[in-house]
Amino acid sequence: MSGVAYRRGELHVDEVALPGLARSLPTPFYVYSASAMRDRLRGLRAAFAELPVRLFFAVKANSNLAVLRTLHAAGAGMEVVSGGEIRRALAAGVPGAAIVYAGVAKTADEIRLALEVGVAQLNVESVPELERISRVATELGCAAPIALRINPDVAAATHDKIATGRKGDKFGIPFTEAGEVYALAARLGGLRPVGLHMHIGSQITDLASFEAAYRRGADLFRALRGQGFALRRLDLGGGFGVRYADERAVTPADLARLVRRCTEGLDAEIWLEPGRYLVAEAGMLVTSVIYVKDSDERRFVIVDAGMHNLLRPALYNAYHAILPLREMPDTVATPADVVGPVCESSDVLARNRPLPPLQEGDLLAIATAGAYGAVMASDYNSFPSASEVLVDGARWAVVKPRRDAEAQFADEVIPDWLRVATPRSG
Ligand code: LLP
Repeated sequence: MSGVAYRRGELHVDEVALPGLARSLPTPFYVYSASAMRDRLRGLRAAFAELPVRLFFAVKANSNLAVLRTLHAAGAGMEVVSGGEIRRALAAGVPGAAIVYAGVAKTADEIRLALEVGVAQLNVESVPELERISRVATELGCAAPIALRINPDVAAATHDKIATGRKGDKFGIPFTEAGEVYALAARLGGLRPVGLHMHIGSQITDLASFEAAYRRGADLFRALRGQGFALRRLDLGGGFGVRYADERAVTPADLARLVRRCTEGLDAEIWLEPGRYLVAEAGMLVTSVIYVKDSDERRFVIVDAGMHNLLRPALYNAYHAILPLREMPDTVATPADVVGPVCESSDVLARNRPLPPLQEGDLLAIATAGAYGAVMASDYNSFPSASEVLVDGARWAVVKPRRDAEAQFADEVIPDWLRVATPRSG
């Protein structure tokens, strides 16, 4: 049994019943299904079997070492955006040759690290970055494999804050300037220009957005080839939308058909960088009800998870389904606001959500939380962090322990001059 489902009235992740798990671990905790992640990767790979495709997991979606290891063992490379993510990938056992490195603000140190570990490709976002990579690579005496990230000026149908391919977004080089910049890359020392990259945004379910961008990328690829540049790779990024509520999620078959159509006759290796698609539905955030506050106006279900654990609802008004850990078939659902403990009015996980009667101590799972959940957490308000648990079949392990306040402030320092006097209170 793989993935998330109710069995015998209890919510399970693979073969592990969550009410039982919640007796062993304090809430809140994230729980991930390794088999669900592998299934998603397998599905994507199978759909693209006929095309020369390489898949890189976008580490930013879930950078836990155990998750990276699971996906790498199943055949995925890694897409990273910082020196820190390079180090995470290496620590998870991923070799440099299976890493592609993007990001708008690469420092000389980060570029040096990337080149020393031999990343497969650096995706370049600007001319000054291109020049810096050239300098660092020349110092190291190597040739950096680079692809230009182009900004195709396509407004993807998604939330404004996660669209990245419009002219006004900070990402990439305007596609109208790409020819010139590619020529510069070919002239500069220390560079081996091998292709083009793009990524137009995240949680995109409208294939037309992808089509517009992919066609733009493929046309440019052909044009540059025509000018004699030896491009080999077209990296189309990620962004494949999943089902949080009633969206029509992107299917691997639809996507593969689209990529084939847009890259027909291109004779290029196609790279893809899915993040959310591989892990979102494989993860949940388990939380306990602390209080139920009923007023004339509203029912507030106050839980121990909040925006400090899962920022997406507060930041993007994102919808996450909320499921009781024990099925409650003969109850009537009434609307409730599910809110966290943080002292912010925006700490709302769900507004007006039909939920069964709930009381203190009841357990809930916030669904589709495997992507952009734990990675975006903070220590705000000094509540304990959510631990992370990986399930694989009947096995489970804590893959990141909970950090309580003492652990959070353990490295903070009271300077000498504040140590001398005992403060007077009041
Ligand atoms: N490649 C690049 C260059 C990216 O910037 C991203 C995501 C991806 C791949 C993976 O995109 P995905 O397949 O996961 O959609 N925090 C937001 C999402 C931000 C995505 C940033 N870039 C959220 O919670 O919705």
